[in-house]
Amino acid sequence: MLDYKDLRVAEAQADYGSFKDSVRAPIHRWFMYPAGFSYRLVESKIEEYSLGARSTILDPFVGCGTTSLTAKEKGVNSIGIEAHPFVHWVTSTKLFWDYDYDALREAIADSHKRSAAADLDALSARIDAGEFPDLVVKCFSNDNLPKLLAIRESIAELRGVPEIRDFLNLALTSTLRIVASAGTGWPYIAPSKYHSKTVKRDAFTEFKKQVQSMYEDLIYVRSTSPSIKTTHTLILGDARQPFPGVKQEFVDLVVTSPPYLNNYDYADRTRLELYFFGWASSWSDITEQVRDKLMMAATTQVTRTSDRQTSLSDEIREASPRVYERLSTVIRELSQVRLTKGGKKNYDIMVAGYFNDIFQVLQQVYRVLKQGSDFILVLGDSAPYGVYIPTDFVIAELALCCGFKAYQVEMLRRRGDKWSANTQRHKVALRESIVTIGK
Ligand SMILES: C[S@@+](CC[C@H](N)C(=O)[O-])C[C@H]1O[C@@H](n2cnc3c(N)ncnc32)[C@H](O)[C@@H]1O
Repeated sequence: MLDYKDLRVAEAQADYGSFKDSVRAPIHRWFMYPAGFSYRLVESKIEEYSLGARSTILDPFVGCGTTSLTAKEKGVNSIGIEAHPFVHWVTSTKLFWDYDYDALREAIADSHKRSAAADLDALSARIDAGEFPDLVVKCFSNDNLPKLLAIRESIAELRGVPEIRDFLNLALTSTLRIVASAGTGWPYIAPSKYHSKTVKRDAFTEFKKQVQSMYEDLIYVRSTSPSIKTTHTLILGDARQPFPGVKQEFVDLVVTSPPYLNNYDYADRTRLELYFFGWASSWSDITEQVRDKLMMAATTQVTRTSDRQTSLSDEIREASPRVYERLSTVIRELSQVRLTKGGKKNYDIMVAGYFNDIFQVLQQVYRVLKQGSDFILVLGDSAPYGVYIPTDFVIAELALCCGFKAYQVEMLRRRGDKWSANTQRHKVALRESIVTIGK
């Protein structure tokens, strides 16, 4: 176990694990989520498994909605679960297409008119008086931030159904990173870096362009998607807990990409958006409202003194002594290696928490999946502080302990190459895989 003997190479689908295709696809492109995967992966699985209007596909880590949106476009029912409230809101907005289109057009014109008429000096004074956390102020030019605030206010003043305000607020969300003068490229925000190109972009103009392109996307998908009505349930919840309202053995296929074991902090990556819209105003706000709700995947979620479980669970020990032993060895090694590193990152606790959480998710997925159906995961393996963990094989082995019958691991691509020049980083070759687990 935990070796490469069953590793197949699926080179033709190398980009399935990345958002590259999705940034060019209607509606998918409304929010640039660095953690997103390819809609083509979902399309190909819907076809391969011959799913239709009587089938339901589940994504327990639905993120910005690639699985649900593709299912809707292809006439398949879907259930998505997402624990990050902001990302959940993005997805629910992308999944709503049933506007009164006359009212939508009127609201768009109204919001443009109101923001053009806004008193920008008064808005600048509010910004000077502390309307936004510093990070937001540093990310935009003195011209653009009052304009962005004017747009935010003009949307808030609109009457009518909330979905129209959501649509416009999502257009404004996308505009933020387009017009930011600081280095806000995903995933990091670097207010100290200055983008001479974006600083010339005008917030009003870019917002209008974004709204227009989103409106055209809606018209396009409505004309190309099947007319048959399908149901798309989106749950703001925790994939480790029983999925509310989802019956046992109800789901025909699960396609997902869980957080990778790579110290990626999803909460921090949406900081600019959370601060701009007032969902949060400090690190501790974000911890309370987002970070603490997510499964363990980053050392920023760990505090060594917390009473959160710091070792592998007894459940895993009982279910698979072999996997438990193997992972415990890795965790012990990490608890030593971390002491030799400047940052002393809590990778040992992060790894234990990650597999404890994934084990719970596997159990929940097993419960709702039909007999004979598959659970497909796209994920990367890991090497925190250079200690290698074949995450794909470990998860597959844990799945067998939950009752799943068999698995297959295919490599999509090698990854981590862009860090090769970094002398601080380990040189372990990493891969992204697609794991298919059968019930
Ligand atoms: C790799 S991303 C999935 C991206 C998705 N495939 C897409 O195309 O947008 C993993 C997602 O899991 C979410 N997440 C983390 N912990 C969760 C939990 N306990 N329950 C549900 N979702 C969670 C994160 O917020 C993140 O959006």
